[in-house]
Amino acid sequence: MTSHLSASLLACTTLLAAGSLACNKSEPSAAPSAVAPAGAAIVTAPAIPAAAAPAAAEAQKLFGERCSPCHGPSGLGDGPAAAALNPRPRNYTDKAWQASVTDEQIKKTIVYGGAAVGKSPIMPASPDLDSKPEVVAGLVRIVRGFSAK
Ligand code: HEC
Repeated sequence: MTSHLSASLLACTTLLAAGSLACNKSEPSAAPSAVAPAGAAIVTAPAIPAAAAPAAAEAQKLFGERCSPCHGPSGLGDGPAAAALNPRPRNYTDKAWQASVTDEQIKKTIVYGGAAVGKSPIMPASPDLDSKPEVVAGLVRIVRGFSAK
């Protein structure tokens, strides 16, 4: 009994440390006075910057799925779906264009689409990325990366 109680308290303390309210649902029999010694069950949350690497990988994957069909795997604006489009998808290797846009504009184009920045509505929005700024930043880095070549 004692071990079961302390196990549930441990889980409760851990959930509290993670900011969860789930402990409201714990058994009323778990008397507050029995709380584990301070610090005993505090689990340090994983550091957030660890998200950067997966975000870059996700951006790379998304580029292949959502962007290269039009912009081309080399960013030349020559993807398989590009031929029929007017205007043509942006050629990312165009240095004059690269110099003319800010990262913020590129982000806005990606998340809200061409129409949102006064460009062609053929350039689709990706509203699902609004909540993934690291992935959008990864896509901007990919777009910028074509410039150097
Ligand atoms: C259906 C084809 C299509 C797809 C898919 C597409 N684009 Fe585009 N994109 C375009 C077209 C067409 C333009 C040119 C719009 C214009 O010049 O009016 C454009 C323009 C752009 C621009 C330049 C905007 C500017 O300010 O000049 C960026 C940056 C861009 N796309 C990024 C992306 C990214 C990143 C993806 C993938 C998430 C993507 N596009 C997917 C067709 C596409």
